[in-house]
Amino acid sequence: MTEEDDRRRVTERRSPNEKDATAMPRRARDSGRVRAAIRTELEEVAEQNETKQPAAARNPQNVVVAIDHVSLAFDEPILEDISFDAKEGETVVVVGESGTGKSTILKLVLRLLVPDQGRVCIDGEDITHLSFDEALKVRQKMGMVFQGAALFDSMTVYENVAYPLREHTTLGEDEIEARVREKLQFVDLDPDKVMDQLPSELSGGMKKRVGIARGLANNPEIMLYDEPTSGLDPLTTATITYLIIKLQRELGVTSLVVSHDIRSAFRMASKIALLAEKHIAFFGTPEEMTGSEDPYIREFLGGF
Ligand SMILES: Nc1ncnc2c1ncn2[C@@H]1O[C@H](COP(=O)(O)OP(=O)(O)OP(=O)(O)O)[C@@H](O)[C@H]1O
Ligand SMILES: [Mg+2]
Repeated sequence: MTEEDDRRRVTERRSPNEKDATAMPRRARDSGRVRAAIRTELEEVAEQNETKQPAAARNPQNVVVAIDHVSLAFDEPILEDISFDAKEGETVVVVGESGTGKSTILKLVLRLLVPDQGRVCIDGEDITHLSFDEALKVRQKMGMVFQGAALFDSMTVYENVAYPLREHTTLGEDEIEARVREKLQFVDLDPDKVMDQLPSELSGGMKKRVGIARGLANNPEIMLYDEPTSGLDPLTTATITYLIIKLQRELGVTSLVVSHDIRSAFRMASKIALLAEKHIAFFGTPEEMTGSEDPYIREFLGGF
């Protein structure tokens, strides 16, 4: 491989986040102006959406996902003694710079990784010591929306959404079709128009919606999203953000979202966890975050 190829690969890999106009800034510019902008944003969000509270949750005090003093190292330490939780019906958004370990947290929750220290609990059950089969069972409670939608390119939209049902349920074809239609409608896609299409025929935003419909197929109680809005234009970002809010409001789903996009994080989050230098630098509501005097948080929010 030539140096030119290498450079191109790096550029390609980086471009989705760099193109994202709302991607997290590194330096604060004018914190007074920034705070005012955030307040305006929060007021707008509050008007559109009384949903920050998990209205549809059956028991909003239940802790559904708990990260409890978790440490994990690969070649070097990535996470050190991190703790935060998501209560029933909450949307917790994990933000932080690239490479800080956000996707790693999702993998810990899915039990694709096991922490070196600490516990990950789902519905109060410590999943760190489960057998493979037991872990699979816990994973059934979760729907995952992968970065970049990650649909199966050779399968139709119908087959993509039906996939988890075929893998993990014994539903008959009629029931599968009914479920696929229901989920596509939920994400505002017309089943009759899109079911027979291939992912390559869809726009980026439609692919994300199909990815969400697939994540929802098994009626999970927990939804996990890895960068659901990265690489999308502002309007599509807003619709995907709205969908995540709708899931919380109408279905009471507990969500863990990993995102670079601080603006959409503010829109959808019941709570924000800021990951920095291997630790949780902040965990609380967006309102608490904007009120924080902590210099790192002020810098992180700078330019928003
Ligand atoms: N399986 C692995 N083996 C070794 N190192 C890994 C592995 N998975 C992740 N890492 C490293 O752990 C760190 C955190 O990775 P992770 O993918 O969780 O970051 P991230 O915050 O999601 O980054 P991004 O915003 O770029 O997606 C990175 O330095 C990465 O290189
Ligand atoms: Mg990641």
